[in-house]
Amino acid sequence: MFSRSWTIAHQQRRNVGGKQQTILRKDVQPSLQQRVNWNALCRNNGLQLSNNNRFLSTAASASKGIKPTFAVPQSHNGIKVVWNDNTTSEFHYIWLRDNCPCVSCKHPETKQKLLDTPSIPLDISAQNVEIDPTGGSLDVIWKNDGHKSKYDPLRLREMVGGSSRHVKAKLPDIEVWDTTTITKLLPEIQYSDIMTSEEGRLKWLRMLYKYGVALVRNVPPKENEVLNVGRRISCIKETTYGLLFDVVSKATPDAHLAYTGRELAHHTDMNYKENSPGIQLLHSLKSEATGGRSLFVDGFYVAEWLRKTDPSAFHLLTSVEVPFAIESSNMDYFEEVPIIRLDKDGKVMEIHVNNRTMQTLRLPQQIVLPFYSAYRMLTEKIREPATELQIDLRAGDLVVFNNRRVLHGRTAFDPSSGDRHLQGCYIDMDEFISQLHVSSRPQQKAPQPGVM
Ligand code: OGA
Ligand code: ZN
Ligand code: ZN
Repeated sequence: MFSRSWTIAHQQRRNVGGKQQTILRKDVQPSLQQRVNWNALCRNNGLQLSNNNRFLSTAASASKGIKPTFAVPQSHNGIKVVWNDNTTSEFHYIWLRDNCPCVSCKHPETKQKLLDTPSIPLDISAQNVEIDPTGGSLDVIWKNDGHKSKYDPLRLREMVGGSSRHVKAKLPDIEVWDTTTITKLLPEIQYSDIMTSEEGRLKWLRMLYKYGVALVRNVPPKENEVLNVGRRISCIKETTYGLLFDVVSKATPDAHLAYTGRELAHHTDMNYKENSPGIQLLHSLKSEATGGRSLFVDGFYVAEWLRKTDPSAFHLLTSVEVPFAIESSNMDYFEEVPIIRLDKDGKVMEIHVNNRTMQTLRLPQQIVLPFYSAYRMLTEKIREPATELQIDLRAGDLVVFNNRRVLHGRTAFDPSSGDRHLQGCYIDMDEFISQLHVSSRPQQKAPQPGVM
């Protein structure tokens, strides 16, 4: 019975004189179950939330030394655990039951769930809840069927409010940059390092995650080599342009100004797709033409600048869905996306800018001028010489960048002055992030079946 174990727990706690042996106390008035503010709860627990967790690192290690001291019932719905740093975490019974890590609820090898979530009674409650004397496990016996669950309390603490993916993420912090900072940092690495060692590869992936751009030097200037380099990140994303694309000037340039010698203003590629490519690689095979310098701008930096400088302009660019499209003999794409896309916590998640493929705006009259003004303001900041990184890509240089963060462009070149040839390819963002997680894993620990 629930109430009996409350009493026992209370007595045990008294008997051991503050040894934090057992936890549930009958004398604690169950407080009204509050609607949980996940964000606040996660902040209290040192966690950050982000929409799809691409740009997130959590403070899992910050929980070192943290132990549960006791737990109190919350009405009939769950428990509140009080930690030795005086923070608290609330856990609904149904959520706890759903996250039982035992081998009959979670397949130990595949880590896929065996428990059928919809079959858990909505009013499930515990018959007994205990924290073991070391604070190392939270043990629950369920009232409806006597099932026993054993949880790692710290893992529970880290999990509440976020997916386990949030907890796992030990990715580097994002560092935004302008010309001065990126010129000092210049994230670059040798081809031989990324191709021949796992350590070099991981260094490169982390660099790319942190700065959104990384330069690879001494890549053999061979056709298709961009695919070999791309495959050191993950599988290549094929698009209508093929597995890779060539940027060369053509006599008949089809749908693209890129195939002329014209300047390309800073942009992100393929905003007209429902998911624009996450990672882009550009490999220089020939750079004999005059001009054609490569330009890069940290979109996160300019977005944060706008947020500070003109919050209402920032708000407009995060809320107005801008149409992008492209049409040619073999394609006809249309998509709407805000120029600055925020995650659900208001963090800048993506940038979508491409004046060439941006379509007619259909805006309420009162928004027309403020939108154009905000777009102009952002663009002026993008075009400031103090914002951009300029690189003269030479044959054998390869630049890889986050196409939803870093804008790229080029100065004009004269096709008659010599050959210029780039080969590029794309990789989905989730493939990159997945590989970053896999490669960042600490030495594989022996799996402990049944412990979450
Ligand atoms: C493109 C492009 C860059 C370059 O084709 O979309 O940005 O330097 N090309 O030609
Ligand atoms: Zn179980
Ligand atoms: Zn481009």
